[in-house]
Amino acid sequence: MNRRDFLQSASAAALASTTIARAATPAVKPIRLGVIGAGSRGQEDLRQFLRVPGVSVEAICDIYPPRYEQVNRLAGKTVPATANHHELLARTDLDAILIASPVGLHAEHVIATAKTGRPIYGEKALGFTVEDNHNILAEVTRHKVLFQIGHEYRYASWAQEAIRRVHAGDIGTPTHIYAYWHRNGDWRRTVPQPDPGGKLEHLINWRLYRESSGGLGTELGSHHIDMANWVFGEQPQSVIGTNSICRYHDGRTVGDNVQAVFSYSQGRRLVFSSITDNAKLGCELWIYGTEGSVQITIEDATFYFEKKKLSNSPDDSVGKTVVERGVVTGASYSTAGEMPYRGPGEKVVTATSEDPTLAAVRSFTEAVRGEHEIFADVHCGFRAAIACSVAHDAVFEENKMSIPSAKI
Ligand SMILES: NC(=O)c1ccc[n+]([C@@H]2O[C@H](COP(=O)([O-])OP(=O)(O)OC[C@H]3O[C@@H](n4cnc5c(N)ncnc54)[C@H](O)[C@@H]3O)[C@@H](O)[C@H]2O)c1
Repeated sequence: MNRRDFLQSASAAALASTTIARAATPAVKPIRLGVIGAGSRGQEDLRQFLRVPGVSVEAICDIYPPRYEQVNRLAGKTVPATANHHELLARTDLDAILIASPVGLHAEHVIATAKTGRPIYGEKALGFTVEDNHNILAEVTRHKVLFQIGHEYRYASWAQEAIRRVHAGDIGTPTHIYAYWHRNGDWRRTVPQPDPGGKLEHLINWRLYRESSGGLGTELGSHHIDMANWVFGEQPQSVIGTNSICRYHDGRTVGDNVQAVFSYSQGRRLVFSSITDNAKLGCELWIYGTEGSVQITIEDATFYFEKKKLSNSPDDSVGKTVVERGVVTGASYSTAGEMPYRGPGEKVVTATSEDPTLAAVRSFTEAVRGEHEIFADVHCGFRAAIACSVAHDAVFEENKMSIPSAKI
């Protein structure tokens, strides 16, 4: 489709969809979405957006043409499509823009969109490099656009309730967070063949290459860093880490496993681990406080409380024989004190357990309609993404690196 056709069919489609939206949901203000980057996540976000009354998709921009038909199927109509984001942004009938391109393009796409003044739902991570993050924050702020970052777990009811209780002191003082994102799979997407020059490989598997991806630390860890920032009320100050290719020697240049320790004020830590060889732990985040712990997963949260402390002093057991569960020891420990707690926890109960992405995009549409402020705003995106950008270098350098704060 050429530029003129794109713009013309866009107007017709916008008119038609506005009519349908008004007929179906007369009470709500229509929100006509444009999408930049309609791949896997863009389509998932879109699927959820289309469940919100009054939302329609009116334009997509993607440089990979098979996406057009996929979006048409999702939308149940032909959506005007272009490969050039400037063409999409030149349209005057779009109310908000969803950006779900690869992270290395976020700065270009978000800043161009911010200049048009339109509200943006931008996928995480905010930006790829330290400079990208500063620039995005500066431009979004300068143009005063509504911006929500795709940290959808901020909208998960069980995470909100668990962290509200942590802030209220239910587990004492939270000092450490251990976050795991463990999988068993190669993280590789199938590329159509033939693929001369590996162009499609890099377009489709951009996550596997260091120049276009922050690897597991950014792609998965950004969610956990954001949650740790939420719990601790600040961004981390420094990070030290490592990564390696342990299993998948297939030409990728990011690690197939990564470990990083993020330092917050007062000696508080986030320890993050992602491996791709064993999925036993799955995706879970533990907040450890002085009086208890809470485990947050992608579908629930559970509290565990510390039992009354046994004596921590080795002197108390000197010369004594301790017999517990068939173990006889005179050593300076008691098995009861050192064994992991294996009893039941106390599950967080919430009124709804709505899909976090649906909750996030619905909240965004409410903010666009002026009903409330944005919770996962551009500052929240910045604080997680800047840590990811620095960690991406730190896990290769294996040096402790400082994480800069926002300049504004
Ligand atoms: N919030 C979440 O839980 C979550 C989950 C998955 C991915 N993501 C994020 O979403 C973003 C996209 O990830 P994905 O898995 O959908 O990747 P993807 O590769 O499936 O999709 C990216 C799309 O962008 C298109 N694209 C590439 N260059 C472009 C350009 N110059 N102009 C327009 N389109 C272009 C690609 O053709 C592709 O269709 C990433 O930032 C990723 O971190 C977020």
